[in-house]
Amino acid sequence: MAFTRRTTHVAPATAETIAAAAACLRAGGLVAMPTETVYGLAADAASGAAVAGVYAAKGRPSFNPLIAHVLDIAAARREGEFSREADRLAEAFWPGALTLVLPAARGCRVSLLARAGLDTLALRAPVHETARALIEAAGTPLAAPSANRSGRVSPTTAAHVLADLDGRIDWILDGGPARLGLESTIVACLGAAPALLRPGAIAREDIEAVLHAPLAVRDQTEKTPNAPGQLKSHYAPRARLRLEARDAASDEAALDFAGALAGAAAAARLDLSPSGDLVEAASNLFAYLRALDETGAERIAVAPVPHRGLGVAINDRLRRAAAPREA
Ligand code: TXA
Ligand code: MG
Repeated sequence: MAFTRRTTHVAPATAETIAAAAACLRAGGLVAMPTETVYGLAADAASGAAVAGVYAAKGRPSFNPLIAHVLDIAAARREGEFSREADRLAEAFWPGALTLVLPAARGCRVSLLARAGLDTLALRAPVHETARALIEAAGTPLAAPSANRSGRVSPTTAAHVLADLDGRIDWILDGGPARLGLESTIVACLGAAPALLRPGAIAREDIEAVLHAPLAVRDQTEKTPNAPGQLKSHYAPRARLRLEARDAASDEAALDFAGALAGAAAAARLDLSPSGDLVEAASNLFAYLRALDETGAERIAVAPVPHRGLGVAINDRLRRAAAPREA
């Protein structure tokens, strides 16, 4: 699908720019908005044409369904059917970095294109004040995947969005760096026991504590109806990744954790968290992958990251980034 060449306005998020961007959304335009997780590329979720513009701008495979962003539980109920577990999770974590996959409600306004033809949909109420103001002013759920070109890492600053999407979208509202820096955790509540579809900014343990039960886990790399479009290479930088590296060669860049590669010969080295803090590591992950990719190194040696808490989500992203390219 070809994209339409557009003039991209970049501006700090203010009452005036949010109002202008909301008007643009109501007219079918594309707006990159800050959220607490990563920047999203927003379009009117009810408009198939606007949503098609998102896929085109991203160059994203069209079978990948999008998250519909709403203000609160009341707005979400108009779009999706909440089970008891879904209710509990929304009450505990909304507004915030949890996405719920639910059966579509009768009268659901989110377009089939945004849902990739499914009778389920993904819903999230973000906490970031700019995202909330934009949803409110637009008066419609906003379909918003991460605001990157397909196959590139998710953007955590307005500059990242501009680098990927300049000339392809109408607005970029700059709200500073994303606070969490990692996408939302996705949980499906589709009748059976709630299932973790994507690890993310809310740790699995915290969700299980609210449910008083373990989450089932779906392998999101399988192209099952439950997790369509979770391409293995979705988070891939251009450079090849070498995971669990114990050292780095002089022609490699190094993505370090807690100084494990400090003595290596690497051409460039960035430490996700010198003190070994997984939350800090998560917030740096995409920006550092990008920065190392931009050094032009063919390979990035990645230090081991502990597989607990947010380390599970970080390792999930790293595995995807390291997977053989599908296209
Ligand atoms: O933090 C986030 O979640 C960010 C911000 C912008 O909200 N958004 C984001 O969207 O990461 P995106 O499109 O990059 O990832 C959405 C994921 C996709 O992997 C998609 O397959 C999954 O949600 N998804 C959406 N609808 C689904 C559905 N009905 N069933 C299963 N998975 C679904
Ligand atoms: Mg994405």
